[in-house]
Parts: sequence; structure tokens; C-alpha cells
Amino acid sequence: MEEEFKNLKEEFYSDLQRLPCLAELEKLRVKYLGRKSAIAYLFSKMPGLSKDEKSIWGKNLNLFKQEVQKVLNIQNEKINSREEKLDVTFPSVPFKSGSQHILSSTSRKICSIFEKLGFLVTEGNEIEEEWYNFEALNIPLEHPSRDAFDTFYLNLSEKEKGKYLLRSHTSPSQIRVMQKAKPPLAVISPGRVYRPDEVDATHSFMFNQIEGFVVAEDVNFSHLKGVLLHFAQKFFSSDIRLRFRPHFFPFTEPSAEVDLSCIICGSSSNKVVRKKEKKCSVCKDKGWLEILGCGMIHPKVLTFCGINPKKYKGFAFGMGVERIAMLKYNIADIRLFYDNDLRFLEQFSL
Ligand code: DAH
Repeated sequence: MEEEFKNLKEEFYSDLQRLPCLAELEKLRVKYLGRKSAIAYLFSKMPGLSKDEKSIWGKNLNLFKQEVQKVLNIQNEKINSREEKLDVTFPSVPFKSGSQHILSSTSRKICSIFEKLGFLVTEGNEIEEEWYNFEALNIPLEHPSRDAFDTFYLNLSEKEKGKYLLRSHTSPSQIRVMQKAKPPLAVISPGRVYRPDEVDATHSFMFNQIEGFVVAEDVNFSHLKGVLLHFAQKFFSSDIRLRFRPHFFPFTEPSAEVDLSCIICGSSSNKVVRKKEKKCSVCKDKGWLEILGCGMIHPKVLTFCGINPKKYKGFAFGMGVERIAMLKYNIADIRLFYDNDLRFLEQFSL
């Protein structure tokens, strides 16, 4: 009896070690307290014992039975409260998911307008050869932008000095494409460009541009105007107007700068009621905002790329993504794009 009782106790406590769940606990209850349990078996042996033994074992067995009941009750409560805490329907902890930066989403919006017109998107090289950035675009040796102070040249070996640079515009993409592919071509090329400019509210040493160009037979300036007007109306508003001002770029002839009718005070749908004496904060009452440069691709540039300028014509344009985003969302300082201040960026996340 003594041996059996000792073994039973040990077995019970070793069973408990298995950290039971509610179902396991019920099995333990049946095993130790049920009608056919080991305790019941020991009780059934009582009638064969002497009077003294009966009182000792009766006490021992009853105490053990109470102990088992108590321990199982405590376990039961523990498991219940653990299972209550684990509510699988409870919403998960929110986690921070990233979203597109305003410059990426603006660039993609612009590209997608051109893609719908049939333009293909290609990214040029951020580290570019001097020839592609300048010569191939008809920018002569004496042009000030070729000065070491106006371009980031890569400091390579003596032999390669001055050969590689961080591109100062996306226009070299035109050359890269035209050298490889035959007209007809309609290409849009977004990417970062670099100029050692002093950083202020409207300048940065790095910014984003989008280059676009078309080369085909019978392409003329009115196609360029039509494509750019379509873009401006889709991107800004349907009643926006464009103004083309003659300008000079070495790689286009003729060339123009394009102004947009002011999105705050110049288009009828966006007219804001202002006090007479207050100037429009965006166009300063000029009514126009400069947005891009463009022109007909210079015959020399086509020739450099092995395209016959007598047979093919092309138009090209280039715009700054930061400038376009600043106009569209009325942002006053270019540095906000790069400061990584989530209070600013989250306003534009999708
Ligand atoms: N590459 C010029 C710049 O960075 C922008 C530009 C002007 C691109 C006229 C063009 C263009 O394709 O035709 O200032």
C-alpha cells in the first residue's frame, strides 16, 4: 500500500509537468479522481486493513484526493486565463508599411500619361560618359556647363580623368536610345541628375528629371505642342493652357521654354477668390509658370546617332520632377522632398 501510494503521488506530479491544456487536464482528472482511478483502487483496498491502518490510510488518501482536486483546479484556472488572453480574432498589431515617395509617385504619374500615348520608358545611366552628356548633345567644349565647377566629374585614374561624370541632365538618354534603336521612337526617360548647385528653397545638387522624345518621319513642332498640352491637361487640369517662349538649347532647333497657365489663379476651374492687393503666392501675378524645355531635335544630334536628319525628324522635352510636384501640390521648399520628415511625406502617401 505504502509503495503504491508513493508511486501514485510521483506519477501525478510527473503528469503535471507536461503543462496540460484543458483537454489534457480533463484526462488527468479522470485518471486520478474518476471511478476507476488509482485513488479509487487504493480506497477499495481499505476494508482489508486493520483498524489503525484504516484510519492512517483513510486520512492519507483523502488528503491526497483533496490535494489532487486543488492542484487540478488551480491548473484549470491558469489554463483558462491563458486561453482567454489568446483571442485569435483580435486585430493584429498595426505595422508600419512603406509607400511611394512623393517624387516617385509624381514621376510615375507623369510617365504613365506618356505611356498611354505609346511612349516606352527607359532609364539612362546616372554615371555617364562625358561624350553622351555633352558632345553628342551638341554642347561645345567651351560651354560653361562643361566646366569642372558645373559638373561632378568622377575622380578616376589619370587616363580616365574627365571621362565619367554624374549626368547633369537626362538628355543623354536620347543618345543611348537612338544609337541602339531605329525610328520610329517614342521614349520617356526618368531619373536623377546632379549639379553642384548651392542648396536653397528651389535648388539642390541632385534632383529628378524626365526626358521625352519622339523620332519619326514627318514629325513637327505641332506634334510636340499637342503631346505637351495633352500631358499638362491630364496631369494638372483639363482647362490648363500652355505658352511656348523661344529659347536656346544646343541640342534642339528651334527650342522653346514652356509655361503653364497658373494653376492657382490662371485656370478657370481653380480660380481662387483673392483680395485685390494680395499677390498670387505661386505665380506672383504673372499668370504663367515655367515648367519645361523642349524643341525639335537638332539635325547634328540625329547625325551623331546615325539617324538621317533628311529622312527623320524628332522632338524632345525635359522637365524637373521636383518643380512639377511643387507646382501641383503647392510646396514651397525643395528641401522638404529630401529631409525624410514623415510628417511631410505621409501627406502624399497612397
Ligand atoms: N536638358 C535640359 C536641362 O537639363 C532640359 C531640356 C530642354 C531637355 C530642352 C530637352 C529639351 O530634351 O529639348 O536643362
